[in-house]
Amino acid sequence: MLSKNLTIIGATGFLSTTITRQLVNHGVNVRVIARNPDKAREALPDSVEIVKADVSDEQSLMSALEGTSTLYIHLNTETTDMDLPFYTEREGVANIVKAAKANRVEHIMQIAGIESLHEEFFQNGVIESRVIREAGMQFIKDSGIPYTFFYCSFFADSFVRLVENDSAYLFGELPHETYFTNSLQLADHINQAIQNPKALNQHYPVQGDEAISFPEAARRFFTNYDPKVALETLPIAVINELGLPASEAQFLQQVWEVSGGLKERFVSEKTYWDLGEPQRSIEEFASQLRLG
Ligand SMILES: NC(=O)c1ccc[n+]([C@@H]2O[C@H](COP(=O)([O-])OP(=O)(O)OC[C@H]3O[C@@H](n4cnc5c(N)ncnc54)[C@H](OP(=O)(O)O)[C@@H]3O)[C@@H](O)[C@H]2O)c1
Repeated sequence: MLSKNLTIIGATGFLSTTITRQLVNHGVNVRVIARNPDKAREALPDSVEIVKADVSDEQSLMSALEGTSTLYIHLNTETTDMDLPFYTEREGVANIVKAAKANRVEHIMQIAGIESLHEEFFQNGVIESRVIREAGMQFIKDSGIPYTFFYCSFFADSFVRLVENDSAYLFGELPHETYFTNSLQLADHINQAIQNPKALNQHYPVQGDEAISFPEAARRFFTNYDPKVALETLPIAVINELGLPASEAQFLQQVWEVSGGLKERFVSEKTYWDLGEPQRSIEEFASQLRLG
């Protein structure tokens, strides 16, 4: 088996640091394009090659992508302001696509949310900023470079972000069950998609194999990640009293309203068929995440 090479843009993020480590564990030769190479060096395994570039600077991407055949894009858009002049996931991706074409990149993969594939799962509307990401994904499709898009359900990793002083806070009514995925599952799928002709020009939903309610998933996660964390559920309106900057509070409020209306069906048969089944339960994932 030939060794696999992958370039990642956005490897130093909350989910992507774990994804990158898992890809290295799979034996993938990873090159990371980072705007802050020192941060990347600190966060990522020693074997990862790090190249400095910023997605707002097309020239920097031109040289950073030299020699890349497969690229994974992992950026983010956490805002309710739809009138900014630059978004990494739209204008940034346009720059990446130009540099990828110039460098004859053969395959581009990208993370997205399940709302972009199955809007009907969302009874309370969807996160507004998805249109920014979708515009960026359209640039990738229009480039003619074969692509693989991963439309992910809620990541169990995100429970860690809800913790403050040994309590984890959920907001609003969360009556439905979700097929929680996690960063290790996505990394396993990315690994299987590298140099895999089946994965070209595919739109893969990424879901776990078990439907669990938010409170139950959080309880099972923390029992294994950190049992001293207590779970609290608060009304969404409390978000405005947390002292967050207004724009952050607005985004967070939108996230919880949308999450309360998320009612998924299982739609990931083809993903499992092409890229393999999930390898761990939510408990096993939490334990693995705790061990780092
Ligand atoms: N949380 C969930 O449940 C969920 C569900 C479905 C999908 N997702 C998807 O997950 C993604 C977010 O993942 P995350 O939390 O890991 O993201 P994140 O922590 O915000 O990481 C974003 C990455 O982008 C890099 N970046 C930002 N600006 C850049 C620039 N100008 N040039 C180069 N790199 C730049 C960041 O680098 P720095 O480290 O230098 O800032 C970082 O590595 C989103 O696409 C979202 O749709 C999440």
